[in-house]
Amino acid sequence: MLPFALLALAPLTSASSSCDTHPPKPPPLNFHIDLAPTLSTSALVVTPDNPQFSYYTHQNLKSKSPQYSVVVVVATEADVSAAVTFANKHDIPFTAKVSGHGTWAGLGDIKGGMNIWLRNLSSVVVAEDRGHVVVGGGAMVDEVVGRLWEGGKQTATALGQCIGITGSGIGGGLGPLMGVYGLGLDQFVGFRVVLANGTVVSADVETNPDLFWALRGAGHNFGIITEVKLRIYDRKGSSDWSYRQLSFSGDKVEAVFDEINNKRRASPPPPLSEILYQLIDVLQAIIDLRLFSNAFSPSQLEAYAASFLALSPLKNTTTLALDYPGLIAEMGYATAPEGCTPPAGSFGSVFGAAVERHVPAAMRKMYNLFNEVIKTIPELWASYIFVEGYGTEAMRQVPERSTAWAHRVPHGMCWTDGSGINVVLAYKADQMNATLEGIVQKRGEEIRAAKLEGQDRQRSYVNYAVKQESLESMYGYEAWRLEKLRGLKKELDPKNRFGFFAPIF
Ligand SMILES: *[C@@H]1O[C@H](CO)[C@@H](O)[C@H](O)[C@H]1NC(C)=O
Ligand SMILES: *[C@@H]1O[C@H](CO)[C@@H](O)[C@H](O)[C@H]1NC(C)=O
Ligand SMILES: *[C@@H]1O[C@H](CO)[C@@H](O)[C@H](O)[C@H]1NC(C)=O
Ligand SMILES: *[C@@H]1O[C@H](CO)[C@@H](O)[C@H](O)[C@H]1NC(C)=O
Repeated sequence: MLPFALLALAPLTSASSSCDTHPPKPPPLNFHIDLAPTLSTSALVVTPDNPQFSYYTHQNLKSKSPQYSVVVVVATEADVSAAVTFANKHDIPFTAKVSGHGTWAGLGDIKGGMNIWLRNLSSVVVAEDRGHVVVGGGAMVDEVVGRLWEGGKQTATALGQCIGITGSGIGGGLGPLMGVYGLGLDQFVGFRVVLANGTVVSADVETNPDLFWALRGAGHNFGIITEVKLRIYDRKGSSDWSYRQLSFSGDKVEAVFDEINNKRRASPPPPLSEILYQLIDVLQAIIDLRLFSNAFSPSQLEAYAASFLALSPLKNTTTLALDYPGLIAEMGYATAPEGCTPPAGSFGSVFGAAVERHVPAAMRKMYNLFNEVIKTIPELWASYIFVEGYGTEAMRQVPERSTAWAHRVPHGMCWTDGSGINVVLAYKADQMNATLEGIVQKRGEEIRAAKLEGQDRQRSYVNYAVKQESLESMYGYEAWRLEKLRGLKKELDPKNRFGFFAPIF
């Protein structure tokens, strides 16, 4: 039936479209002529013929890279607004970029898009009250942390240093000072934002309070942040971080996670972070446990670590007293910001989820599957599992409904959502092809399913989500949360222009 209907219609369609009353096709856009004059003189329009184009468009998640036809290196807030207005007028999909660490596979849906390159909005200005800092939307974590450190200050940010402070913050900002000051997003007290229609607004507790609420947890859906004001705090001393590293062979998986559960059950929860890596050592994953705290002295950390030492580590370090930059360097995060931008050798797909507590049997299953994958698929040699556990005290004291971050869960155990487990299956960029990508997706999901055994529900950290995650797992299972977010989205971004990163619809 259908083919005939189409045939019958075809002559009619072609007859009407052959009519020469149609307006002539507009000439193709020339971004240098049509777009550049709408921007400030310091802004730069970069097109694919420019050798620098790949520098600006590099994305860590190589296989899901967006495809851009133009980069706008903005110099002012007004440039961001002009770029958005231009993109809307010409129906060009757009997104904003700082470091290119976004993992969401939907970024790959951008075709012929505009990349609004925020990196140069990187000012860091400590406010007169010395209790806040005003930061440009393109600043990296290490620029803010470094500037604050020099001035005797600190704030809660993600551990990763070469990621954007706003991009990582609006999705949560889990990090090592979360138990002391709250999440990265709990530090945000005011934003300047370019909305989907190019209008610039402020958002804080008094002005646009609903937008202010939504930006802290679901920000990627609502605007491009050109500036944010954060709370800052006096740092304690100069070498006030205690750090210790221990590594264990794979047969200790249950014992190590059992012990972490035991420790975390204390009330109040210990003011300490642990990061575990499972790294590949001669095709055998080892467990690399790093304990660090801003509240424990070295001798307190010694005492804390005693029960882990009793599990016979392969290796252990002495307890170090470090300043924060020293801690970052010791842990291998002190990459210069630009070191994160040029194409790196390998790329990975992340299979993340937060857990309410570790289930040792599930961790065993995950470990075994991971080990099998890296043994049998040599292309995935650079893969790793990354378990983050941070202090949760201050994070839990922030009222649960006060931000769009849905994972405060005050009734949970101390472990709750202080922890994310991320399996990163990594490969050399030049080995990537559709077959390998298919294998990575299939095996990655198997490993993710294994680690979620024994959990009530999946909770996903939006910053590490890749597109398989449900909206509820990212933005909350309480119905009112998604209702409120959808209502705001309808009002502020009805055409879903900000739809390429964990979109609400
Ligand atoms: C962006 O900032 C870098 C580093 O400060 C500078 O070299 C470059 O000229 C800036 N680009 C533009 C277009 O302003
Ligand atoms: C910790 O490391 C030190 C120095 O390598 C070593 O002497 C000690 O035996 C280790 N402790 C345990 C419990 O393995
Ligand atoms: C794709 O990658 C897989 C795994 O590395 C490899 O075995 C296969 O030969 C590659 N296929 C093509 C067509 O390159
Ligand atoms: C842009 O959207 C906002 C929020 O919906 C609205 O208040 C504003 O009037 C819009 N601006 C224009 C120029 O339409």
